[in-house]
Amino acid sequence: MTILDPSLTTVREQISESLISTLPGISYVAEEVFAAEQASIIERSWFCAVRAADLSGPGAFRTVQIGRESVIVSRNRRGEIRAFFNICRHRGVRLCVQPEGQLKRAFQCMYHAWTYDLDGTLIAAPNLTKMPDIDRETYALVQPHVREYLGYVWICLADEPPSFDDEVIGAVRDRLGDEHLIDGYDIAQLALGRRIVYDVAANWKLIVENFMECYHCATIHPELTEVLPEFADGLAAQYFVGHGAEFGDEIQGFTVDGSEGLDRLPGITEDQDRRYYAITIKPNVFINLVPDHVIIHRMFPLAADRTVVECDWLYLPSVVAEERDLDASVELFHRVNQQDFEACERCQPAMSSRVYADGGVLVPSEHHIGAFHDWITAQVGPSIEAARAAQGGRR
Ligand code: FES
Ligand SMILES: [Fe+2]
Repeated sequence: MTILDPSLTTVREQISESLISTLPGISYVAEEVFAAEQASIIERSWFCAVRAADLSGPGAFRTVQIGRESVIVSRNRRGEIRAFFNICRHRGVRLCVQPEGQLKRAFQCMYHAWTYDLDGTLIAAPNLTKMPDIDRETYALVQPHVREYLGYVWICLADEPPSFDDEVIGAVRDRLGDEHLIDGYDIAQLALGRRIVYDVAANWKLIVENFMECYHCATIHPELTEVLPEFADGLAAQYFVGHGAEFGDEIQGFTVDGSEGLDRLPGITEDQDRRYYAITIKPNVFINLVPDHVIIHRMFPLAADRTVVECDWLYLPSVVAEERDLDASVELFHRVNQQDFEACERCQPAMSSRVYADGGVLVPSEHHIGAFHDWITAQVGPSIEAARAAQGGRR
């Protein structure tokens, strides 16, 4: 037995030439592991929170759950994106309880009416003028770090965020071989054609692992393998740097029946035509690029065994404005999502079984998932070890 990394002795092992081990089952179940992931991964990474165009103008807001925190994402009077921890600075009331809404001018707390402008500054409170020592900036709403990229608002709750270029743009670069190869899709300018929200009874890591491999494609994705015949061989587009899976010869478009798709995105290259590219941006984003649209998944891990996935289908604005029929286009990946999430939900109950205490195995076409497991282990390894030890004690 070869140990790949001495610090990971119980987590990831080369079992044979073909097989390496997965994370132990308890990693997908234990509350303490999930809590550690919330604190050390979700709240410290760049988290893709909101589609910028969903915030239509000044005062529009959305609230999102990022790890253990509720965050408001909104636009100020100048239309600029702002994000705030959803916590009143007085005694902590959650300011916005709706998932989305439109403010007139300010955030006003429902408890004692402390009021903050759209940049988060404290502008009014009962008797505020009688308390001249209260500094309105000191008691402003607390702002996490914010970036806009690909038409989405990315938020990092950590005091010291990781490099956006390394973590987010780097993931695009690593997958496509060049981060600029995504530019031609001009994702920020696309329009939302359809959004479907999936409430998945599975741990978020199972969903990431599923997205990274295509060993399952021939078994559970008949429509997808019809469009992308090479997927039937089990090698995911993510297995090779820069590789996009080619459409089958008879396939006219990325649709459920291979019929013609919508208008091709004008900026893509000839190489990108008739190909599907997939990118995983840890911890919560999947990007799917095809010639006439882009599909973006955002995952919201809400519990060890529950993940909400919001999936956006984005098309040229003219396609959406003309109300073109998107059904055959949307249906392909909607089915893929349903097929994938059903598989993940069928894995989840097994994760707490004594039979799965040591985890499962990855075949060679899945070995790149081992890097994801290493990344998890590097951040929450001690919590996994502790959960495993406790599980051993119960057996
Ligand atoms: S808790 Fe918000 S004003 Fe008192
Ligand atoms: Fe799949």
